[in-house]
Amino acid sequence: MPELRYPGHPDPLTEGDKILLLDRKQRRYLMTLHSGGEWHSHHGFVPHDEIIGLPEGSRVRTTGGSTLLVVRPTSADWTVKAPRGAQVVYPKDQAMIVTLADIVPGAVVAEAGAGSGALTAALLRAVGPAGRVVSFELREEHADVAERNVVERFGGVPPNWELRRGDVLEGLAVVECDRIILDLAEPWTVLKVAADALHPGGILLAYTPSVVQVTRLREALDGDSRWGMAQTSETLVRTWHVDGQAVRPDHRMVAHTAFLTTARRLADAAE
Ligand SMILES: C[S@@+](CC[C@H](N)C(=O)[O-])C[C@H]1O[C@@H](n2cnc3c(N)ncnc32)[C@H](O)[C@@H]1O
Repeated sequence: MPELRYPGHPDPLTEGDKILLLDRKQRRYLMTLHSGGEWHSHHGFVPHDEIIGLPEGSRVRTTGGSTLLVVRPTSADWTVKAPRGAQVVYPKDQAMIVTLADIVPGAVVAEAGAGSGALTAALLRAVGPAGRVVSFELREEHADVAERNVVERFGGVPPNWELRRGDVLEGLAVVECDRIILDLAEPWTVLKVAADALHPGGILLAYTPSVVQVTRLREALDGDSRWGMAQTSETLVRTWHVDGQAVRPDHRMVAHTAFLTTARRLADAAE
């Protein structure tokens, strides 16, 4: 796989780098730099060759005179800008999932469904090259989007990633793992196979948009002695408008997305 130059990498912007262009109105455009390529807008165009070789954080001008800022995209930029088939897990929840499920370098993580691959990318980064992510996806068209996004994001298929096209209910039991992350409509149906797959002490995390799902999941967790320490939370992130003395919360925010429920796999009770 090609070397990935992360935001703030000391190399100047280089052929093959992913970049983000920001215009005056803070609109963001994600693209790959190619010698001979051009980025077009209704304010003219910018040849990629004028960007290649610049330090990150430079400003470039379109042929029509508009100024654009050029940087390498962060993980959050990717999540928001990447094409999607299914609804993605937003950065605020990705961050909390990595923390609440304690996704550590070297961990083996099973995930369902892969959807658009947004959470997959966050999990792959968190487990690092010594870890492994196994993603299940039932719908072919979603699996295709997830695969495209992950390949685009990492510059190839990450060697520590396996995408299994099929039902997590059928495939999960044979995956020995340390963490299971569920983003699907009925996570309680997966608890039995999840308990078979997860090492004792391992962590299950379910991302569910509705409170009805939370109730159903918590009842199912309470009814199975192999699960314990269940907790549910949601994460609200409010950005602020800061302009001189005008300092106040922004009027708009991504408020409710989903509840995060975690539980620990307990040891099997002695016979
Ligand atoms: C909301 S999307 C997941 C989005 C993903 N977390 C992301 O960040 O891009 C839910 C996905 O679960 C998949 N799915 C639903 N039931 C499944 C099952 N039993 N096994 C595997 N995938 C399943 C759906 O096809 C859908 O693509």
